[in-house]
Amino acid sequence: MTRLRTGRRKYYDIFSHFYDAFIRMHSWQDEDDTRNFLVDAAYLGGKPVPRILDICCGTGSVIFAFKERYPESMAVGYDFSHGMLHKAHEKNIYGWVVFVQGDATALPFYDNIFNVVTCSHALYELKGETRQTALKEMKRVVRHDGCVLLMEHEIPRHPVFKLLFYMRMLSMGSKDACEFVQGGDWSL
Ligand SMILES: C[S@@+](CC[C@H](N)C(=O)[O-])C[C@H]1O[C@@H](n2cnc3c(N)ncnc32)[C@H](O)[C@@H]1O
Repeated sequence: MTRLRTGRRKYYDIFSHFYDAFIRMHSWQDEDDTRNFLVDAAYLGGKPVPRILDICCGTGSVIFAFKERYPESMAVGYDFSHGMLHKAHEKNIYGWVVFVQGDATALPFYDNIFNVVTCSHALYELKGETRQTALKEMKRVVRHDGCVLLMEHEIPRHPVFKLLFYMRMLSMGSKDACEFVQGGDWSL
């Protein structure tokens, strides 16, 4: 892992302590709705044991939403931050969910294996080539009849949250991230 990547990982380790509170504040309680929207969009109803992978899973909220709806699923959360994964373990009341630590640009999974691969509120934080490589990796591990679901933030309308949002963007390398959130290049 490069020094830059190590620095970012440490940033997320620290952020993990207040990440959930930050998201609650940011999303005005509609966070459950957005996660359920993602679960609905996966159309996994007919699959007895769907395989689900959540990339950059953070504290696990999305993978837990899937596990709650599909208790028999094989659910994997993947993130490079030990702090985020530690919080996810602490929050897990849903049974068997596997958490794997690693970088989104090198997924340690076979090709064509997951019914659904998700990535929420994270791609905009990955820089140019890292984002493209992560997208290619998602495409590689998803089944040909499966889907990759991506969810990103809207820029908040409330002035205080908008300011906080832009401050965070600044800390992440603002220009690229803002362009991406506003409808940047998602192609492979
Ligand atoms: C803003 S959080 C989103 C967390 C979660 N997906 C959600 O919707 O709440 C971004 C996450 O991406 C992870 N992340 C950032 N860059 C990564 C990379 N190159 N490889 C793996 N995880 C990464 C961070 O550790 C962090 O948990």
